[in-house]
Amino acid sequence: MSGAPETSPVPDPAAAARPAPLPPTLAWHGGEDGELALLDQTLLPHQRRVLAVRDLETAIEAICALRVRGAPAIGVAAAYAAVLGVRAIAPPADFQSATAAVCARLAASRPTAVNLRWALDRVSRAAVREATLASLLREARAVHADEVAMSERMARFGAPLVPNGGCVLTHCNTGRLATAGDGTALAAMFRAWQDGARFRVLAAETRPLLQGARLTALELAAAGIPVELCCDSAAAGLIARGAVQAAFVGADRIAANGDFANKVGTYGLALACAAHGVPFYVVAPTSSCDLGIADGAAIPIEERDGAEVCALAGRPIAAAGVGARNPAFDVTPGHLATALVTDRGVLRPPYADAIKALLAAGR
Ligand code: MRU
Repeated sequence: MSGAPETSPVPDPAAAARPAPLPPTLAWHGGEDGELALLDQTLLPHQRRVLAVRDLETAIEAICALRVRGAPAIGVAAAYAAVLGVRAIAPPADFQSATAAVCARLAASRPTAVNLRWALDRVSRAAVREATLASLLREARAVHADEVAMSERMARFGAPLVPNGGCVLTHCNTGRLATAGDGTALAAMFRAWQDGARFRVLAAETRPLLQGARLTALELAAAGIPVELCCDSAAAGLIARGAVQAAFVGADRIAANGDFANKVGTYGLALACAAHGVPFYVVAPTSSCDLGIADGAAIPIEERDGAEVCALAGRPIAAAGVGARNPAFDVTPGHLATALVTDRGVLRPPYADAIKALLAAGR
């Protein structure tokens, strides 16, 4: 047989080692009688299981157990979960009160990320406008679409700040797993990489639940971005030695003066970056801003079960009977952030007037 020699694609060794793309973090399948699909993040990176959630109790358990997590993602998941909760009250004598009660239960599931309340307030207002399940589902879908669009805009504003040729430190997980779109801080990195910037990422492991090790490293590796882990306790020393050119983190709630809550450990990283002149960027959607809270002191901090600290990957690491403090978040003073990257632009300190103007201006 003659003709052109057959060619087979040259295998890309880096691509061969890459984890396969992940299923969507969350999705709603069907109409008002549909279900919420959640990728169970507690099983990552080793197992990929998508949960079909059809009732409020299962949804609340998934949020509390961090099967779905990350401020924007829990807001979207809760909006859909409200549909599941109200649907089960058939037919509700008072649709608006039923919606309010369901939303109140969901809002209590995780207290720090204000995105949860932002999304549920929207669903509650939809019930006032039109007392139907269709109206609630429409609003949940709108919350979902808005978070995707905000993610896209944050990526666009944040990408130029990623240092080309440098090392970027990040904490917890702020990527596709934490949002409905490409992420917050990680979205800026994904976009910068697509735009041709080349950099390495240092991901802090994020004790006790290891979102950095289990989730961020997985997402970056899947995108082909070089990533290394460090123990949370190694980060300050590496910053001091000049190993980090910028830090990018997310936020679960930004107070009116720019103070912000994020995964526990963020405050220490911000202090170390400030001490060593390393830019510290916070990437968060406007759904994370809470003008009702003057400063960080008033942000509610979720205290989780100390058992999470006394175990590692489910195995006990402390003697039986030892207790632990387990705040899931800490608050960083806004002045330690070099910039707040939002879906409506990049803010520089001082933040109070800038945040107020940004929110007043709308989109
Ligand atoms: O407890 P988690 O895993 O929900 O915490 C998530 C974070 O702290 C993120 O950094 C935060 O939600 C902002 S980025 C989406």
